[in-house]
Amino acid sequence: MASADFEEKREIAMSDSASAMRRLIAYARPHLKEFLVVVALVIVYILTQVIQPWLVKIVIDKDLIVKHPVLQPIIAIGFAYLAINIVGLFANFMQNRRLQWIGQRIVRNIRNDLFQHIESLSMRFFDTHETGRLITNVSSDTNVVSMFFTNFLLSVIQDGLSIVMVMGAMLLLDWKLALMSFVVIPVIVLISVLFRNKLRESYRFTRSQFSRLIGYTAENLGGMRITQIFHQEAKQFDQHTELNQRYTKGNISEYQWSVLFNRTFDTLGNLSVALMVWLGGMAVVHRSIEIGVLYAFTSYIRQFFNPINSLTQQWNTLQSSMISAERIGGVLLTKNEIPDPVEPVVLHRRVADGQFDVEGRVRFDHVTFGYSPEKMVLQEIDFTVEPQSFVGFVGETGAGKSTLMGLLTRFYDVNQGSISIDGIDIRRFSQQDLHRLIAIVQQEVNLFSGTVADNLRLFRSEISDRAVQQAAEIAGADEFIRALPGGYQSWLTAKGANLSLGQRQLLAFARALTLNPRILILDEATASLDSHTEMILQQGLTRIAEGRTTLVIAHRLSTIRQADMIYVMDHGRIVERGNHRDLVAQQGYYAELVRKSSPTTVEDAE
Ligand SMILES: Nc1ncnc2c1ncn2[C@@H]1O[C@H](COP(=O)(O)OP(=O)(O)OP(=O)(O)O)[C@@H](O)[C@H]1O
Ligand SMILES: [Mg+2]
Repeated sequence: MASADFEEKREIAMSDSASAMRRLIAYARPHLKEFLVVVALVIVYILTQVIQPWLVKIVIDKDLIVKHPVLQPIIAIGFAYLAINIVGLFANFMQNRRLQWIGQRIVRNIRNDLFQHIESLSMRFFDTHETGRLITNVSSDTNVVSMFFTNFLLSVIQDGLSIVMVMGAMLLLDWKLALMSFVVIPVIVLISVLFRNKLRESYRFTRSQFSRLIGYTAENLGGMRITQIFHQEAKQFDQHTELNQRYTKGNISEYQWSVLFNRTFDTLGNLSVALMVWLGGMAVVHRSIEIGVLYAFTSYIRQFFNPINSLTQQWNTLQSSMISAERIGGVLLTKNEIPDPVEPVVLHRRVADGQFDVEGRVRFDHVTFGYSPEKMVLQEIDFTVEPQSFVGFVGETGAGKSTLMGLLTRFYDVNQGSISIDGIDIRRFSQQDLHRLIAIVQQEVNLFSGTVADNLRLFRSEISDRAVQQAAEIAGADEFIRALPGGYQSWLTAKGANLSLGQRQLLAFARALTLNPRILILDEATASLDSHTEMILQQGLTRIAEGRTTLVIAHRLSTIRQADMIYVMDHGRIVERGNHRDLVAQQGYYAELVRKSSPTTVEDAE
């Protein structure tokens, strides 16, 4: 078995289970009153069930086996039987409805918390967690946990009470016979314990296969274009078939074990009834009990087996919800590595335009950073960007340019050194403020399902339609947005498949401008624009940059030719700095880049 399964296979330590359980219970606590109503309804229901055989016993012993049976009391009891049944039905219906309601509510809360928590986690979390598994966490794990509140709790309350009340009725009827029938209890427990491990093991196997299958499917659907372009369908299909096969096998084995378990139980129940008929029959013959009592006992022993059977079946539910609860708990317990300060710096807003009153001086003070402790990606980065200036970053792929910007937005925190805005360490801002100060436009544009306008203002309703449109005009996106069938109200899909790459890029620019940040980061943002669009943007760039600090990562040197300052990066270090003219004159790395790129990339249209 692959090592990925190890996590699923590991035995649940007692403390893990206990804390997972505690976490679940904490969600149920606000619904305590409703649970009590359910318990009351359950008691009513079970009483109606326990009374029924007793009524029949009365009819048999008092009214039927006497010399001259009278019809009237029999009819009366018949009606009582019917009435009790109706009450039981009603109580049972209400109890199920209530419990479902509570269960669904609890799970809704868990799902919300989980989603909110995942959203708040740092980028490092997403580096190390597959999206497919997270989807399983949020969707199916929460569903499994909901079964804890509906199936499991219901069974524990209902079946538990049932057993107790049936046992009580049996003791009341004839304690000796009752004690004799209780002998089967240890046998039942023993058998359920024996089956437990087997069921748990096969359940876990199936679950882990399922989440792998889902993860694989999700990743594949996401990368469908690549699969088709490289004609990998057959290969991907083979892998899918294999995963699917394992899942099927797991499922079948799980069902086989549970069927075996159930039938063993049924057989045991039948044997007990036979034993009861034998023992009780002898007692009836010796006239130590009445025949009605024997009838009631054989009914009770059935009533007594059913709840035990369903209780032990719930072991499965408990197991699976524990595993799911642990997985959910694991995510919920993951601490955000990028914490907000306890007392964040309070930023004032300007009266004129409501913007933060921040100049926008960005300082990297001897910053060293690595995604993992072994390998530092940035070394001793030290520079200051003056307020409202326009600076460029160039360097080979993998040099660390995007990483630098990720640090400024606090997707990650520095290992050494510090980053400040207007002399204030960015770790002292609340992240919400920081992310309103800084906007970033990346090559990969993420759109959300919603209208164009929603996507531009990122669902922030306080931004007016006019502001959205103005930003789009400056970014050069207005023209194509108006040409869309619904204009600014056109519906976009999450992947933005109904837009071209360049159009998406323009939207990203427009979005950044709509948010009106003090500091704007453009990461390779012009790479996917055609030369016409790029020209529009190029012209707009000066306007975009106006009044804010702009940091631009560019492969096309034309974008940053006019920059106040250009930083040349290589292997995580800044190796050259200066404006275009100075750098060319230096005859170093930058000059080399210019020589290589000028005949093709800059002048040529694509
Ligand atoms: N999430 C990540 N986890 C681990 N390592 C990463 C991660 N992102 C980037 N790296 C590594 O950090 C180094 C710098 O990457 P970065 O993305 O900053 O380069 P870049 O200069 O933006 O390159 P490009 O021009 O190709 O965009 C690379 O060696 C890369 O492998
Ligand atoms: Mg990059």
